[in-house]
Amino acid sequence: MKRLVSGKQILVCVGPGGVGKTTAAAALGVLAARQGRRTLVCTIDPAPRLADALGVPDLGPEPRSLADETNRILGIGQSGTLQAARVDTGCAFDRLVGEQVADPVLRARILANPLYRQMTADLTGAPEYAATLFLFDLQRSRAYDLIVLDTPPTANALDFLATPRRLADAISSPALQWLAARSPKVRRFSLQRLSAGGALVLRRAGKLVGSQFLDDLGAFLLDVRDVLGAFLVRARDIEAMLRRPEVGFLLVLSPETAAINEALYFAGHLRRAGTPLAGFVANRVLAVPGMVEADALRAALAALPALADMNAAQLEAAALQLADLGAYLAYITQQQQKELARLAAQAPGVPITRVPLLPHDVSNLESLKAVADCFELAG
Ligand SMILES: Nc1ncnc2c1ncn2[C@@H]1O[C@H](COP(=O)(O)OP(=O)(O)OP(=O)(O)O)[C@@H](O)[C@H]1O
Ligand SMILES: [Mg+2]
Repeated sequence: MKRLVSGKQILVCVGPGGVGKTTAAAALGVLAARQGRRTLVCTIDPAPRLADALGVPDLGPEPRSLADETNRILGIGQSGTLQAARVDTGCAFDRLVGEQVADPVLRARILANPLYRQMTADLTGAPEYAATLFLFDLQRSRAYDLIVLDTPPTANALDFLATPRRLADAISSPALQWLAARSPKVRRFSLQRLSAGGALVLRRAGKLVGSQFLDDLGAFLLDVRDVLGAFLVRARDIEAMLRRPEVGFLLVLSPETAAINEALYFAGHLRRAGTPLAGFVANRVLAVPGMVEADALRAALAALPALADMNAAQLEAAALQLADLGAYLAYITQQQQKELARLAAQAPGVPITRVPLLPHDVSNLESLKAVADCFELAG
């Protein structure tokens, strides 16, 4: 991990929902800042627990520094800095529109269009694409040695990587190309003009959604024609950026069979694409239970002053229950170790960093520090 945070310029934490991407991204940021790097963590946490814990509530797209006291608790010295920002999907798209559309009237019309708002908010992959747009803007500024990007929960980690390509494909679709080829003089898109070919389909669609809607859609698509071209170029630039050797992908996973299978698939895909995975973070790894024998447990319970008024039968029952639980935990731990060994064997050369299951959520500075310490100890 130390090598990664000192050698890369961009680290992207990917993985399925709830595995610990936001936590890992924040802890990586802490580690990098400890190593003296100017670091930015971009989080996508919809529940701003982590931002609150870092003392930067209401975190938005403007990077914010942590308080001195927060840095001290997290073990960040004078040489490095840690800033945090939150990816705002709408804002990332608006910036691109602002950059591309010089005419203020047209820009305002696009930004105010309900279809635009809906497209950027609800489109499949919009949050993923916004995250990459945000990252692209930030790395151009060269204000940071390292940017750590948290990513939205995707059903499959591969989805994130495929986002720019999917967007490029969607933009290059024949329907949009057809619209883009219209004369710039045609400011209104009318069903009447579409008398041939596709008109039939559109007229049928018009019966369903109303032809006013189709007219609005056409007008909007004409307005955003140039912006779509810019989205396409940017999608390609982002794809190229994500393939540079200074960019590393870290896959966060839970040490379970299905998650490991998916992780291996993802690692194979990246290897074949020529951008090998920088590492795995196995999160919530269980510790081997210390005491599982009923006799030892009974003796330990009997020695506890707080349980002094329990009789022998009660102690025996409690010890047996704990022994059962211990045996179960030992079994799960063993399975997790087996799965992690399989991961190591089938993805040789990709380091695995283990983070234990902590007794509570990582929503305060102490627990975040514990995860960062774990990364630091991992070497
Ligand atoms: N090692 C751990 N021990 C205990 N709790 C953890 C650990 N890692 C993460 N958590 C907790 O699990 C929850 C999910 O973690 P986190 O938000 O980092 O996951 P995520 O992958 O970013 O989720 P999402 O896909 O929803 O964005 C959080 O409440 C977090 O505090
Ligand atoms: Mg998250």
